[in-house]
Amino acid sequence: MRRAGMAAAEILVEAGRAVRPGVTTDRIDAVVHDATVARGGYPSPLNYRGYPKSVCTSVNEVICHGIPDSRPLADGDIVNIDVTIFLDGVHGDTSVTFLVGEVDDHSRRLVAETRVAMDRGIDAVRPAQPVHAIGRAIERHAHRHGLGVVREFIGHGIGTEFHSGLQVKHYFDPGDGTVLVAGMTFTIEPMLTLGNPSCALWDDDWTAVTLDGRRTAQFEHTLLVTEDGVERLTVLPDGTPPADLFA
Ligand code: MF3
Ligand code: CO
Ligand code: CO
Repeated sequence: MRRAGMAAAEILVEAGRAVRPGVTTDRIDAVVHDATVARGGYPSPLNYRGYPKSVCTSVNEVICHGIPDSRPLADGDIVNIDVTIFLDGVHGDTSVTFLVGEVDDHSRRLVAETRVAMDRGIDAVRPAQPVHAIGRAIERHAHRHGLGVVREFIGHGIGTEFHSGLQVKHYFDPGDGTVLVAGMTFTIEPMLTLGNPSCALWDDDWTAVTLDGRRTAQFEHTLLVTEDGVERLTVLPDGTPPADLFA
């Protein structure tokens, strides 16, 4: 899981370096595909439940699962790139929302606070802690900053399967009392919105967008519960999270 997580982080950095105005999301898909195969891995999204590409690229009002296409990124866009690699039998899953050129202040704040919300969620991870502590920490941070929390998509157990086991809501659900145990691996991947977090699905059956058309951001790490806390698996060899290189 450490090796898969590290590979996912490295691929995400390569993808992030390709982000600039004029680059198509199809080009980013090619970068991720090639970087994944170069490491001896398989891009987990490709043909997953019929998904047609190797990565998700979610621009502006797209919450998640945006499908790469021929549209060039424009100055002022924000784009989440969500990389998952299947390497030596296990998956590593991580995403960052990148700024494209000069981005307006509201969007920059959305992106920055979404990252902090994810970090607050990660800080809540330790053995014997109920899983609802994660969503509580994320939701508290979002609401403190006047941001919405998408409820339809959640973090997930991950390992030999892409999505399995634990469900990790990004809002507080007191009924969700599953207790964290050392050795568990799962993702935290909050999607926050500038406006109302209600979502709609395009007729491609993948692309999830905000109903009000306002912008949304997401960050994701794959995590391991350790004996005394948490370890981020989707980091570079020196322990740096990919997002640090673009902050
Ligand atoms: N990487 C996404 C997640 O964080 C899942 C993408 S599924 C796909 O769970 F089929 F859209 F790729
Ligand atoms: Co995930
Ligand atoms: Co993901």
